[in-house]
Amino acid sequence: MDKKVAVVTGAGSGIGRAIATELSNRDFHVIVTDLNEQAAKDVAATFPSARAIKCDVTIPTDSVAVANSVKEIEKRLDVWVSNAGVSKMAKFLDIDEKMYDFTLDVNLKGVFFASQAGARAMIELKTKDARIINIASMAAKAGRVPYLADYVASKFGVLGLTQAMAYELAPNDIRVNSVCPGFVSTPMQVRELAWEADLRGISPEDVKKMWINDTPLGRLELPEDVAKVVGFLTSKDSEFITGEAIAVNGGAFMD
Ligand SMILES: NC(=O)c1ccc[n+]([C@@H]2O[C@H](COP(=O)([O-])OP(=O)(O)OC[C@H]3O[C@@H](n4cnc5c(N)ncnc54)[C@H](O)[C@@H]3O)[C@@H](O)[C@H]2O)c1
Repeated sequence: MDKKVAVVTGAGSGIGRAIATELSNRDFHVIVTDLNEQAAKDVAATFPSARAIKCDVTIPTDSVAVANSVKEIEKRLDVWVSNAGVSKMAKFLDIDEKMYDFTLDVNLKGVFFASQAGARAMIELKTKDARIINIASMAAKAGRVPYLADYVASKFGVLGLTQAMAYELAPNDIRVNSVCPGFVSTPMQVRELAWEADLRGISPEDVKKMWINDTPLGRLELPEDVAKVVGFLTSKDSEFITGEAIAVNGGAFMD
């Protein structure tokens, strides 16, 4: 394959779809993967060069199957974006083991084994200047987030994992970075607005106003705001960046 090849997990919706679109606009051949196979197919169908594959990141062999398929068919892998993630809001005292396991399975174990499958394939294909990007969150840097303790734990884990991967994979010419979005308008956000409204006893509109008031740049984030930063992390301009956690949140959290 002449074009560069990128895999994106959870690319059937929201931020993942915007990342896949950004990479397609940057002339990548995009492997659109999602738990929801139809959503992945619908997104892939909008690109000039793409393929959809069903992948549940909680099943490591699913990610290995994606990597094997890319090795066989495209024979090239330049970028792997581990984006798939879930959230469910609840008070810390109410989070049970089942909910904790579900969140950690997708958000941390999922990133661990999906990105591992990507890294192994890049090494086997002898990719030069490879890039892995793990989508974390503002809640990966600030635990002062209401009703998301399991999510916070998973996303802090993603930042540590990203640093460990960056350190170990640098000799293989693979750069590994995280991106930390803020309050992004996606289907996940619609669910969170309803949960937080319920937990606070206020309306979703009032929660939205709180989030905008918390954002110095004065608006909710768009999936494209995140995708543009991911695009930068796949470009030559970022070739000396590795192990970083790049915040893109309109100033909602500064570190
Ligand atoms: N929306 C936000 O405000 C926000 C903020 C910070 C970080 N993030 C992170 O960005 C990423 C994308 O979030 P989003 O807002 O686009 O969410 P979303 O719910 O709109 O989309 C998530 C996608 O991931 C897929 N998915 C869920 N479980 C999966 C699994 N086990 N395997 C494969 N795919 C799976 C879903 O089918 C869906 O297509 C997540 O990692 C999320 O934690 C989102």
